[in-house]
Amino acid sequence: VTVRLVGAGPGDPGLITARGLELIRGCDVLVHDRLVAPELVAEAPGDALVIARDGTGQEALNRLLVELGRDHEVVRLKGGDPFVYGRGGEEALALVAEDVPFEVVPGVSSLAAVPAAAGIPLTHRGIAAEVRVVTGRSAGCETGPPTTVVFMGLESLPEVRDRLLAEGYSPDTPAAVVAHGTTPDQEVVVSDLASVAEDAAGLSAPALVVVGEVVALRERLLAGQPAAAGAARHSCAA
Ligand SMILES: C[S@@+](CC[C@H](N)C(=O)[O-])C[C@H]1O[C@@H](n2cnc3c(N)ncnc32)[C@H](O)[C@@H]1O
Repeated sequence: VTVRLVGAGPGDPGLITARGLELIRGCDVLVHDRLVAPELVAEAPGDALVIARDGTGQEALNRLLVELGRDHEVVRLKGGDPFVYGRGGEEALALVAEDVPFEVVPGVSSLAAVPAAAGIPLTHRGIAAEVRVVTGRSAGCETGPPTTVVFMGLESLPEVRDRLLAEGYSPDTPAAVVAHGTTPDQEVVVSDLASVAEDAAGLSAPALVVVGEVVALRERLLAGQPAAAGAARHSCAA
């Protein structure tokens, strides 16, 4: 029994992943956000329990997932990608804290998909080489510096490091390099900004570099440590 945090994609039901659709078709319980495509909800087996998240607070939802996950194959279907403004990390940490196994099935985030579908590329040679992602809702949270993601950065990691240090990132900011991500050859090096260039020297492209405090969540999510074990550096009202 497992809880799968599945990304439903940005809206068009055809933009869910093959794995996500397979899991919906085999689940006992589907817990879905209000905005996911009804066509995807209809893919759950006829005898599955289907719960719309409407109006349920995050704490109550976390508890529900823990309870259901003890006895059922649960799909928690979330818009876009579960870990992009989706509070999927919070749900995963709640499951880790109660020793309920979970899996994250990434989705096509609206981040690039919605502009692309509307004819807008996020990057374009000679026009824009970088993308800035912000939120209009901070949910009462005090947060740290933004997460920086670097594409094609493996060969230039020392320059990337120097630039981020010059921009004010602390040298001890957690940093990870993920090479061949989501494939059987995936390799992940976790380090800090000061040392990441040396520590990732053995990796081969393609690779993404992630710099920010969120990298530190990885250990808790993967090692199954209780959510309370890692002291949060930043406070959050909601
Ligand atoms: C709570 S966030 C969830 C984002 C989601 N996890 C993702 O990866 O796309 C919801 C916001 O994503 C954006 N969004 C999601 N789907 C969208 C769509 N089909 N068209 C336009 N914006 C969308 C809107 O800004 C919306 O308020």
